[in-house]
Amino acid sequence: MATPLMSLTWTDHLTGRQGFLVVDRLVRGVASGGLRMRPGCTLEEVTGLARGMTLKEALYYDPAGRYVPLGGAKGGIDCDPRDPEAYPLLVRYLRAMRPYIERFWTTGEDLGLSQDVVDRAAAEAGLVSSIQAVYPLLDDEAQARRRLADAFAVEVDGMGLDELVGGCGVAEAALTALDRAGVPYTETRVALQGLGTMGGATARFLSRAGLTVVAVADLKGTIANPAGLDVEALLAARDAHGTVDRAALRPGDRELPGDAWLSARAEVLVPAAVSYAIDAENQERVTARWIVEAANMPVRAEAEPPLAARGVTVLPDVVVNSGTNAWWWWTLFGDVGPDAEEAFAHTRRAMRALVGRMLARAEAEGITPRAAAHALAADRLPELADRFGWYR
Ligand SMILES: NC(=O)c1ccc[n+]([C@@H]2O[C@H](COP(=O)([O-])OP(=O)(O)OC[C@H]3O[C@@H](n4cnc5c(N)ncnc54)[C@H](O)[C@@H]3O)[C@@H](O)[C@H]2O)c1
Repeated sequence: MATPLMSLTWTDHLTGRQGFLVVDRLVRGVASGGLRMRPGCTLEEVTGLARGMTLKEALYYDPAGRYVPLGGAKGGIDCDPRDPEAYPLLVRYLRAMRPYIERFWTTGEDLGLSQDVVDRAAAEAGLVSSIQAVYPLLDDEAQARRRLADAFAVEVDGMGLDELVGGCGVAEAALTALDRAGVPYTETRVALQGLGTMGGATARFLSRAGLTVVAVADLKGTIANPAGLDVEALLAARDAHGTVDRAALRPGDRELPGDAWLSARAEVLVPAAVSYAIDAENQERVTARWIVEAANMPVRAEAEPPLAARGVTVLPDVVVNSGTNAWWWWTLFGDVGPDAEEAFAHTRRAMRALVGRMLARAEAEGITPRAAAHALAADRLPELADRFGWYR
């Protein structure tokens, strides 16, 4: 993997816990990437995620668009987000990272943290905003910030637009693959790991497209029903961390162990929780035809060759879950307005084009979709560097 531009480890003076920041690359002096909090988070994991952000940004380069891709970065804190120490730790981490966030790192929610919590902690840490480093690149900062704030206030059936766009993109990636294979949506079953921001929104879009969600896993275990789960009822029964209240289960729903989602009888598997969920050993249990990576790095590299040999196609994270990041910038730079239908239409169009290009290149060159996506991004990086430079 390419060496990142900068990586640092922070040690909290009160608890001894650690946090990380990796800036993989800058474009115009800025890098974008969320902040995750989970017990066991490592610098290695954050480094891989930061690289993924560089690729995700580059894949959206559109010379005709207003938004110019940024570089890639990521933050991580090694702590359980449900720990009573988690919030004050987050504030101290953000205080320590303040110079970077003020100048070149734009961040936001990721695994374990919601945007509300990031915003509240950022304000407490004395920051104007978690994305303030990008403000100097905007033509009309006040108008751009108003547009983004208005977009964040949009809700669709009880879920915020900011929570929905990512899942809209994930679902569209899956639907594009089904269309190319000629598989009808109504004959397609889905199993997901995670029903938080990404998993929840993905489940909603896929079930509304006619697919049957047969299993979802959260921290408490897997909920399954081969005849189909009531997705909206499960979404409504989540707590702030994406755990479903089991009182909402219907008579046909079963509670299974945490890893049962992996081997559920389904055509589409959506890992939408932790990194490294599918490894060389447990990949044998996958019966699905597609793995759609809503989470970042859910499939270990060693698992991919045996999966590919069995005809399982992995649609990679850098493409599949890139919708949220792109939407923030499309909205801020003015490519889309604060409107759900406009945002969904733009996301769907962009995702369909991207997945189409990726699968076509994979087929033409006899490589995996992940290798094709990385090649597409790598083609653009020199152009971005030439045209916009690393530093402002
Ligand atoms: N939120 C975003 O904007 C965004 C964007 C792109 C990618 N992602 C990626 O998507 C993934 C999920 O992020 P999120 O923001 O939806 O997280 P979240 O905290 O909102 O939800 C996580 C969900 O996963 C479940 N979960 C956590 N650990 C689990 C485990 N060990 N087994 C089973 N379920 C488990 C939780 O119960 C919850 O339902 C992460 O890999 C993240 O990097 C998130």
